This record gives sequence, structure tokens and C-alpha cells, in this order.
Amino acid sequence: MCGIVGYIGPENGREILMKGLARLEYRGYDSAGIAMVGSDGRLRIVRCEGKLSGLDSKLVGNPVNGTIGVAHTRWATHGRPSEENAHPHRCGPFALVHNGIIENYAPLKEELIKEGRLFSSQTDTEVIVALLEREWRKTGEYKQAVRNTLKKLKGSYAVVIVNEEEPDMLVAARNESPLIMGLSDSSFFLASDVPAILPYTRNVIYLNDEEIVFLSRQGYAIESLRDGEKKNPPVQQVNWNPIMAEKAGYKHFMLKEIYEQPRAVIDTFRSVVDLDRKEVVFPELNLEKELLEKIERVFIVACGTSYHAALVAKYMIEGLCRVPVEVDLASEFRSRNPILSDKILLLVISQSGETADTRAALKEGLDKGAHCRAIVNVVGSSIARMAQGVIYTHAGPEIGVASTKAFTTQLVALYLLAIHFARQTGKIDRETLEQCVQELIELPGKMEKVLSNTDKISAWARRFKDYKDFLYLARGALYPIALEGALKLKEISYIHAEGYAAGEMKHGPIALIDAEMPVMVLLRHGPLFEKMISNIQEVKARDGIILALIEGEPSEILGPAEFQFVLEPSSQWLSPVLFSLPLQLLAYHVAVLRGTDVDQPRNLAKSVTVE
Ligand code: AGP
Repeated sequence: MCGIVGYIGPENGREILMKGLARLEYRGYDSAGIAMVGSDGRLRIVRCEGKLSGLDSKLVGNPVNGTIGVAHTRWATHGRPSEENAHPHRCGPFALVHNGIIENYAPLKEELIKEGRLFSSQTDTEVIVALLEREWRKTGEYKQAVRNTLKKLKGSYAVVIVNEEEPDMLVAARNESPLIMGLSDSSFFLASDVPAILPYTRNVIYLNDEEIVFLSRQGYAIESLRDGEKKNPPVQQVNWNPIMAEKAGYKHFMLKEIYEQPRAVIDTFRSVVDLDRKEVVFPELNLEKELLEKIERVFIVACGTSYHAALVAKYMIEGLCRVPVEVDLASEFRSRNPILSDKILLLVISQSGETADTRAALKEGLDKGAHCRAIVNVVGSSIARMAQGVIYTHAGPEIGVASTKAFTTQLVALYLLAIHFARQTGKIDRETLEQCVQELIELPGKMEKVLSNTDKISAWARRFKDYKDFLYLARGALYPIALEGALKLKEISYIHAEGYAAGEMKHGPIALIDAEMPVMVLLRHGPLFEKMISNIQEVKARDGIILALIEGEPSEILGPAEFQFVLEPSSQWLSPVLFSLPLQLLAYHVAVLRGTDVDQPRNLAKSVTVE
């Protein structure tokens, strides 16, 4: 949450900072600001409530310019969205941007107020810059003042500071909030995430917790906050390109990302499947036969859409590997003192690799001696670096706040893990493994077919866009897809929607059903089909409107064919991928028709880096 950009180099950095913010706006968009030291040596700050476009307008004709500066797009935690709460915050010669939460800001603020300091915002961030100014007056030394200040903070932060008195130095630090550094021939960049700097460089250093970096025009020095030890982390090459983070002619990032899914799925399995031998090889997972054989239980932990992927994985891993799987929301797992040991595989799933609760859950697993692995989309993210092994989803940058391609690639990564696990522990034979791989190879073609046949979904969106509530029902491995379909609809269209296990309907939600309630049902042929049909009859008997996603061919029992969307049959473990697509598209089209901000829905942020 919150996007930070910093620049120092020979160029006029204003455009670099503003373009960088635009690429990070998915991280927060309730206010924005920029601070630069100009060639006249003056620090100028412009801030604005609302989206980045407001800041753009405010900057027209404004002399904010320079070759050093910082910028910020905010997702409010302390203090409502307003200009006075927008970053950068200034005190004396310093302007500072921050992402994170300072947990001890209240006593620190009280101390500063007692000393006579006045505050103009309700933020925790203003306390940091006020402390810095006090320490600087005390010590008379900039670097020491930064160290002293940061040592007083409890909580999470990524900060970047510009100093009017030292206009040739940018200072940054992080603790539990993401911050990367980009290096080109003559410039240095700081950012919360890679897309901000992709147009300028792919050479990146991933800063670690409790590290400070001092960037001058000649070079940089990284040191540990605690003991001042010099650090020399490797410069890594990012394999994303700037085009991947653009809309490429689509009206919204979400739509582009929906249509990228067949490609993303191929990239995800191509990186680990030996297509000739039909075998799965995970180069960065560190989870081989001897270890898998010792695993007595698997915990899968995540938030939001990634949690729904975890729920599908329970069906896959229990079904294929016959090992018990527990799935938890990261926010609950981390605070319930889970029982873990070296017989447990803890798998965390996160698109961003920065979600605070998922990160804390992983730390809990590491501290308690579980074998901790992660499924992550962003290379170099905190979770990717903390885990003892990683499977990367190769979705590319996901900019739309509503997760789409990250979700389906997570499902594919989990499927690959399940078949690898099952094969290594002798639960499936070679022939079954080959068949599983073959089904995966056929999946992108089936996804293409769904995505090229969407007239019916658009018609459903037109017909149902003004309804107040939706219910999504399914059973088995499609049940989490009902949850995900409901989440997609509510987060971007603001229509109330609930996903339910169809068998649970008569234990409560059936009371809601009447002629005003569209009920989306997901069904495929197999052992659960008849039971789904019974649930559908129960809905129809109460005048509920059935919309059906069905594998194979339409069924008369479901009602008129216009309310049935047919998908090609696929295996029980891969059908969740296919069923996700029409639900993403329905949510998208409903949101567009209702005129909501599809890519940046209200109150949300892409990467939830605060607890
Ligand atoms: C869903 O559309 C959301 N973007 C959200 O639920 C998201 O999946 C959740 O915040 C977890 O994010 P992560 O995968 O980056 O950890």
C-alpha cells in the first residue's frame, strides 16, 4: 500500500517521478505528492487529495523541477485522505515519503509536542520527519540523524528522504515494507515496485529489512541500520519489460490481464515442465523426494484471491497426494499460535510477495521449524526471499487491483506442485503423471476458446448489472471458484455477492432467495452433478434466477439456454482455471456498465503491506 518513487541523476526527474507514480498508482490512490530540490537549491513540494491526475493538473506551470526528488501515491492508514495528510511531509530542510505504519508514533508525537513541535497532519509519517529534523539539529550530521531517527521507530516503513541542505544525496531505508533500488549508467532510482523503473533500467538491488542506502550522484552505500556494517547486495536483472506494464490498447489493465491468461499459464508451466519427458522439475523449490516423504501435513496460508487458490489446492493435494491439508487466512493463522513442526510443509501464496499478514505467517512458520515454501509472482519480493524455496507464477506484472492472471497461474503452480508431490511420494504412477501434464498442455487452448466466446457473458452483464445481490454456488474444487467469482463482482462493481458451498445453501442463505436474486451455479459432470442439480431445483422452487456455467453441454433442467454458458470438459483439478474466466469477465463487464473504476476500485490497494 502506498507507492514511493525517488530519483537522483543528471535528468530533470519530475517526469521520471510522475511516470513512476503512474505505474504504482495501483498501490494506493487517495492522494499524491512530489518534492524536488531545484537548480536554485530550493525544496518545493506539491500535494493533492485524490488521484494522480489531480497532481498532474496542479503541476502545470509549477516550478517543481530538479535532478533529485521523491514522490508518493497514498493509501490512507493514519488520517483521512486529504492534502495535509498527503506525502511528502516536510520539516526543516527535509521532505520524506513513507509506506508502512509506525506503531509507536503516538508516544513519539507526544514527546515532540512537549518540546514545542507543531504538527499539520494526522499521519504517523510526519512524526518521522519531525524526529529527523530534531536529530539533525542535535547532531549536525545528516547520516547520523537518519540512523538515530530510524532506530527510534517501531513498525514497518519504506522511507525516502530528500534534504534541501544536501541536494546531492538521497537517503532511503526499509523495514517490512518493500523498497527496491534501480541503477542505470548515470542515475539511481528508488521505488516500491519494479514497474516504476522499468522504462529506465532492469538492474535492480532488492533492499533488505533494516538497511539504509545513501545515494549520491557518484555512487551508493548500503549499510545495516543496527551496526553500520557495509552491505554489498548483488545487482539483479529483472526479466519484465516496460510494455508488460502497459495497457496495450485495452481499455483497462484488468481486461488485458484477463486475456493474457493463456500466455501466463503457458509461461508458468513451461518454466518447470520438461515437455518431452512429461516431468515436473522445480529448480528453486528445494523440495525433493526425501523431504516430501517426511511431510505429514500441509498448511497453505494466504489472503484474498490467493486464499481462494489455496482452497482449491486443498482438493488437489488431498486428492492426488493423500496428505491432509489445512488452509488458513494469513491474518488468522499468524495470531492463533499454530501447531507446527518439521513434519509440516507450510506453503504461502502471494501475488505481490509483500502482503503483510502472509509475510508474518511465513515468519511464524520459519520460527517454528516448519518447511516453508512460497508461490509468488514478483521475483525478489520479501516473501520470495524469506521462503526456503519458491515456485514463481510467470504472470508478469499484474496492475489491475482485482487479481485475475495471478490467480489462474497460482492454480497452475499448485497443480504442478500437487502432481510433483504425488509422483515423488509414489501416490501416482508415471502414466497418471503424463496424463496430468497432457491435460495441462491442453488447458491454454481451452482457455482461449472461453475468452473468444464472451457475447453471452456481456449479455448477462447488461441484464443483471442493476441487481443488488448475487449468490454463487458450487461444490468440490469449484466451491472456491464460487467464492472468487463473488469476490471479483463485489470488489469492482460494489454489488453485494456471496459465494457458498452449494450443500450449505439450505443452512441459511436459502432465506435470501427470491425473484430478485441471480444465483450463479458452477457445475461439471461427475459425482457431484446430481447434488448440484438438487440445489438448483431448490433455488428455482423459490423463484431464484439461475445462471449456469456448465461443462460439456447445456442441460434442460437448468432452464433457458440463454442463461447457460458451456465450457469444454477438463480434469477436475484444472476445471477451476476454466470456470474462473467467465466469472472474471462478468465482474468486469458489470463494473464497466456501472461506471466504477475497474482498475482502482474504491478503498482498495493492490498490495496490502500493512496489517
Ligand atoms: C483480489 O482481487 C485482491 N487483489 C486481493 O484479495 C489479493 O488477492 C490479496 O490482497 C492478496 O494479495 P497477494 O496475493 O499479493 O498476497
